[in-house]
This record gives sequence, C-alpha cells and structure tokens, in this order.
Amino acid sequence: MVTYVQAIKGKKRDPGVIPLHGNVGFEGMRKAGNLTARALDMLTEHVRPGVSTGELDRLAFEFGRDHNAIPATLFYRGYRHSICTSINHVVCHGIPGNKVLREGDIVNIDLTLIYEGWHGDSSRMYAVGKISTKADRLIKITYESLAKGIEAAVPGNTTGDIGAAIQQHAESERTSVVRDFVGHGLGHLFHDEPNIMHFGTPGSGPELKPGMIFTIEPMLNLGRPHVKVLNDGWTAVTRDRSLSAQCEHSIGITETGNEIFTSSPASIFNPQNPQ
Ligand code: MF3
Ligand code: CO
Ligand code: CO
Repeated sequence: MVTYVQAIKGKKRDPGVIPLHGNVGFEGMRKAGNLTARALDMLTEHVRPGVSTGELDRLAFEFGRDHNAIPATLFYRGYRHSICTSINHVVCHGIPGNKVLREGDIVNIDLTLIYEGWHGDSSRMYAVGKISTKADRLIKITYESLAKGIEAAVPGNTTGDIGAAIQQHAESERTSVVRDFVGHGLGHLFHDEPNIMHFGTPGSGPELKPGMIFTIEPMLNLGRPHVKVLNDGWTAVTRDRSLSAQCEHSIGITETGNEIFTSSPASIFNPQNPQ
C-alpha cells in the first residue's frame, strides 16, 4: 500500500508537456503557498546569532505537522530534512544540522510544504543580526531580480523573457547569475515542466499560457557564477567562495498576468518590501 504522499512523489513529469491548471489547481496552490509563506514568516524571529540550522529545520517540520502539511524535501531523493539552509557562499541545498548561525551571516531558507496534495515552494534570505553593506546589497538585488522575473511572467511572453529580465538586472548591478539550477513547474508534483532558467534570450523557450504554475528562484553571486557541489552530494557553493543569495516564489500564469502564491502574509518579503 502506498500512502498519499508516496503516490504523489511517485508521479513522473511528462517531458516536454507543460500542464495547464484550472481553478482547482490555483485554489490548491494558494493554500499550500500561503502555508509555506506563513512558515517562512514564523522562522524570521528565530534566525538569530546562536541558533543552529537544525533547530530551524525542527521548527519548520513542527509548523508543517501542526498544519497538516508535510515538507516535500523529507526523504526526497535521499534528502532527510524539512528545509535547506544555505549560508553565505552556499548557493543552495545547504543541509541543516549542528551549524550555528553567527552575527553577520546571511542565510537562505528554502521550504516546500505539501498541503492537500499541492506543493508551495518558496525561499527567502534572512540576515543574522547586523550584516555587511555588500551582503545587504546582494540580497536586495536578488529580490529585485526575482521581482523583474515575475513582472515578465505574463501570457504571451516566453520563459526566455523571464530569464532575460533576471539576468539583465543582476548583471547591470555587477552580480552574476548561477546557471546550474533552474526554476520548475510544480503542483501535485514537486518538480514538473517547464524549466525556468534565470538567464537567457528574450523570446526564447516556450510561450507562457494561463494555467501554467512554476517557481522562479534566481541565485546571484557577488563573484563569478560557477558553483561546485560538495562531497555530501547536496551542498552547492560558489567556486570562488563569493557570497551568494537566492529568493524563490511559486506563481501561476493568469489571463492578465500572474498570481504569486507564496507572498508573505506578514509582508516581510513581498516585492513592495524586500526585507
Ligand atoms: N526547494 C528546492 C527547490 O526550490 C528543492 C530542494 S531539493 C532538496 O526546488 F532535496 F535539496 F531539498
Ligand atoms: Co525551493
Ligand atoms: Co523550487
């Protein structure tokens, strides 16, 4: 017998086919996205000097458990945690554990909660105490780049228009865009079509249509864009050890534009108010 979650995780993406969702999907994503955003809001006050990333992981798991939601990363391809915690030069997929946050660190927390079968995937940057001007600037540019990508995510545009908007903003501010990880369709599946690259050429890639649901999750570095994955098989770091930041929202394409499913109810992390 498979559980509901196993059944969902067992579903495979259909290469080249981009699902179009209706009202049921949008309503499901609204609830899952909102729950994920509330969890990320909840974590804000806990991100302080002295807290371990394992403690943040536990808090995220318990929030999910208390709201009938399961973190999608638990037991995903051998991953055993509820969140990813990516500190300073870690680009993404940092593994929570005994590591303690220190004043001046910047950390991305990435969480995907599955609620009633729908995946709400979002990540934000958190400042640990007082951070440097350059770290603050990187976080702002990264969030602005995500906002530019979201602005370009309208029917009639293509996935390439999203990537081009992000790259244009990031590079105009002398930061670089990581090429190795992409945004992705999601819904009942965690990772579905389409892939959303965070760089590219305007007009390239598939046309965006109402009903498409996907993440945009640019990673920007202060130095060069190149990354390497550590021996744990997950942790991606900048090769030049420069600072890296990432922001992620789950969105749906509507008839007239898009809807952001993972906006912060506490307005801690919305396009109008990056930090
Ligand atoms: N939440 C990540 C994403 O944005 C995926 C994390 S996969 C993990 O797609 F296994 F590393 F957690
Ligand atoms: Co994510
Ligand atoms: Co994602």
